[in-house]
Amino acid sequence: MTKKIRTAVFPVAGLGTRFLPATKSIPKEMLPLVDRPLIQYAIDEARAAGITEFIFVTARGKSALEDYFDRAPELERALEAKGATDLLAEVRNATMPSGAIAYIRQHEALGLGHAVWCARRLLGERPFAVILADDVIAGDTPCLRQMVDAYEAAGGGCMMAVMDVPASQVSSYGILKVAEDQGDLVRAAGLVEKPSPEDAPSNVAVIGRYILTPEVLNSLGQKKPGAGGEIQLTDAIAEQIGAGLPVHGYRFRGQRYDCGSKAGLLRATVAFALARDDLSEDFAGYLRQLAREDLTVGW
Ligand code: G1P
Repeated sequence: MTKKIRTAVFPVAGLGTRFLPATKSIPKEMLPLVDRPLIQYAIDEARAAGITEFIFVTARGKSALEDYFDRAPELERALEAKGATDLLAEVRNATMPSGAIAYIRQHEALGLGHAVWCARRLLGERPFAVILADDVIAGDTPCLRQMVDAYEAAGGGCMMAVMDVPASQVSSYGILKVAEDQGDLVRAAGLVEKPSPEDAPSNVAVIGRYILTPEVLNSLGQKKPGAGGEIQLTDAIAEQIGAGLPVHGYRFRGQRYDCGSKAGLLRATVAFALARDDLSEDFAGYLRQLAREDLTVGW
């Protein structure tokens, strides 16, 4: 029996430089996809996978995230008085019960691996999930739910969401060296962070969802810098393969949007708007009009 995954780590300490100047005063994870911040999608996905404890690894300038998950009594009273029940439900969905959420500060930007290591004392000896909120994944079954089911079927170890990417994009991702490709599950023989296309062992790329064992935290504790001089989560997971522990990629079902890039956030905005009953008709009409006009935009 594998141990249940109850805790998820959300590394949210990044500077968000690709979205400056907006991210000068708003955390990247608070940027909206239609009308909900990116972090809300990540939280909903975690809840759907059975997560009940949420650990945020934050940094200076991220207090808007803490406020977002706090109660908003005045706002709730105002919405109640207006009978705005749908909005009230949305606002309450963004509130975390006391004790369910913890914030840890990463004092220096030393990499994703270091950010996860910062949460070690709250994680203890149980396996845990990591969610990178700027990878938004739309699908019938939320990605982490699919992974938890696959993890239980596989009998534990480490698991990462993966997808096949074109060779020209491998240098943006952690890339698997494939030991055995079973379709949904890919057993890893190694992992390389952001290789050049010539050095990439495959085109199976890690996407921002992980289920990890506590041993990964011990490896991270050695704080060996890797690609880009940063302490890489990829390297610590690769060490588990060396130690003989099972490490799998999981090819999730769903559409992933790289909302850490402007183009990705725009694509996601279009896709999510078209999927909304209250917006799709009007918005689709606008897109058709733009397409007819050869996408020239004017105002
Ligand atoms: C991080 C990880 C990388 C992974 C990617 C997925 O990179 O280091 O292994 O493939 O997320 O989005 P980042 O995009 O933060 O540079």
